[in-house]
Amino acid sequence: EIKACLFDLDGVLVDTAKYHYIAWKELADSLGFTFTEQDNERLKGVSRTASLNILLEIGGLLLDEEEKTRLAEQKNNRYVQYIAKMDSSEILPGALEFLRECREQGLKIALGSASKNAMTILNNTGLTPYFDAIIDGTHTSAAKPDPEVFLLGAQALGTAPGQCVVFEDAEAGIEAAIRAGMASIGIGSPQTLSAANLVVPSLAQMNVSLLRESFATV
Ligand code: G6P
Ligand code: MG
Repeated sequence: EIKACLFDLDGVLVDTAKYHYIAWKELADSLGFTFTEQDNERLKGVSRTASLNILLEIGGLLLDEEEKTRLAEQKNNRYVQYIAKMDSSEILPGALEFLRECREQGLKIALGSASKNAMTILNNTGLTPYFDAIIDGTHTSAAKPDPEVFLLGAQALGTAPGQCVVFEDAEAGIEAAIRAGMASIGIGSPQTLSAANLVVPSLAQMNVSLLRESFATV
């Protein structure tokens, strides 16, 4: 029986993927190469450092650690400027309604995000009060697809992994859920997220009855 929902942040609850993309693209431009929206798919759910490594691989650049630290900071400074202006209008369709329904139905709620900026985003959009536990990039040492972020979430809620369901828009996130021994629901395209137990286009197509029906035997 499902007792808790663990949510990824970027691309599931809020529309921040576009700001990550713009900030990375600005960095690529400044380094003199093109970075497309298709390239950006590879960065979803991936930590900041790992994202930079993928970006530099695309640009064919080999840089030392010091230079990489500087560039990661440069990207983050731009990203922080964008998210500073966020408000509740950037909560994705259906997210607020589903979080409310989960609370009403007695399901516990945790955040499981790779982002070190998660608290800023949750506070600016007014989402913070919906969570019983918040695990983000400041609490973890291993990035998705490592299951750490979700296992810490389950632990903070006091719920067994087998009673948790993860909501994710990234392939690496679905893999992390599977490795954590949790059920998973993909938000987005069934092609990219085929490893999930169920895929819906957005949280607007999700509700607690559907959740309970889907995992009745879990
Ligand atoms: C999420 C996003 C990634 C981002 C990562 C780290 O997983 O999907 O695109 O790189 O968080 O975010 P941060 O805000 O710490 O750079
Ligand atoms: Mg995501």
